[in-house]
Amino acid sequence: MNKKITLSVIKADIGGFVGHSSVHSDLLEKANEMLGESNLLTDFHVTHVGDDINLILTHGKGIDSEEIHQLAWDVFIACTELAKKLKLYGAGQDLLGDAFSGNIRGMGPGVAEMEFVERKSEPIVIFMADKTEPGAWNYPLYKMFADPFNTAGLVIDPKMNCGFKFEIHDLIKNKKVIFNTPEELYDLLVFIGASGHYCVKSVFHKDTGDIASTSSTQRLNLMAGRYVGKDDPVCIVRCQSGFPAVGEVLEPFSNPYMVSGWMRGSHSGPLMPSSLDKCNPTRFDGPPRVVGLGFQLAEGKLIGPQDFFADTSYDNARRKANEIADYIRSMGPFEPHRLPLDEMEYTTLPLVMERLKDRFEDID
Ligand code: 13P
Ligand code: 13P
Ligand code: MG
Ligand code: MG
Repeated sequence: MNKKITLSVIKADIGGFVGHSSVHSDLLEKANEMLGESNLLTDFHVTHVGDDINLILTHGKGIDSEEIHQLAWDVFIACTELAKKLKLYGAGQDLLGDAFSGNIRGMGPGVAEMEFVERKSEPIVIFMADKTEPGAWNYPLYKMFADPFNTAGLVIDPKMNCGFKFEIHDLIKNKKVIFNTPEELYDLLVFIGASGHYCVKSVFHKDTGDIASTSSTQRLNLMAGRYVGKDDPVCIVRCQSGFPAVGEVLEPFSNPYMVSGWMRGSHSGPLMPSSLDKCNPTRFDGPPRVVGLGFQLAEGKLIGPQDFFADTSYDNARRKANEIADYIRSMGPFEPHRLPLDEMEYTTLPLVMERLKDRFEDID
């Protein structure tokens, strides 16, 4: 049997520079240094989007490996120490516990991991977003794997014509369900259209069962029971030869669709595709950003990255995102710019209500 490799993308916000806009280079250096010293990994790449550090790791330890999660945790703890020294904003924001307990899931950082046999050629794209939430991948994953107007291969490639399986997670009730496409498209959409509640966790090839995509689905705010930052998500997609082509995987981001998570995790805004050197959300702490990095895997080595959204073909999406941002910002504290009451991560309503409760009278 061919040897399997594991690709793990583990991310955390452990201190913003400045505010919530970016990551200080000392933290990236520290993460690089520590991963370089580890003998657990086949390869690694350290990067960031906005104020989130992303560790891209390849290894042979499988998903949910205690050793790998411990390593990521140790990196985040060491970077937090540095962040505290530099008094970076929200130092240690995403680390919920003091002690590691075997699995980094549920402890704050976001995790997307998949294990597979590397193909003859293995192109992958890793998407990382800031100022949004895991449901932000619902729309593009639907487009990539189920919309023939986006993905020509669904119609004209015999290796993709069978369609894909979508694993959906109910983040509130902690349940999962699998839908087959194209035959269950309408049932799928009724759930994933509610992206704050239902998330696409993984996608599988319907004939081979091979994993095509997986993403982080932690909802930090719910786990912690208090506001500790939005759960800025990551997503891995395998491309070509039975999976969507790289260009089909990137195509959904040409439309800067609306996502939740801008300013104080309590506003909606357009998701702007950004190059690595321009992924520092500034205007009203945004607009929300997505970076897409491509790698070719070669015996587990990460050959890359290719910074896809640096390409000029995403200029129109950025322009449109800025126009949408102008428009939606003009609504200020009104919905739908401000999220509905039950989705905001910040609210003064209970306090204001308590103060004013005696002024409320029955309507005849
Ligand atoms: P604080 O200034 O109280 O941290 O809140 C604003 C903010 O930055 C929200 O993320
Ligand atoms: P992060 O979740 O990226 O730290 O952003 C917090 C926020 O609310 C910025 O306005
Ligand atoms: Mg932050
Ligand atoms: Mg962030």
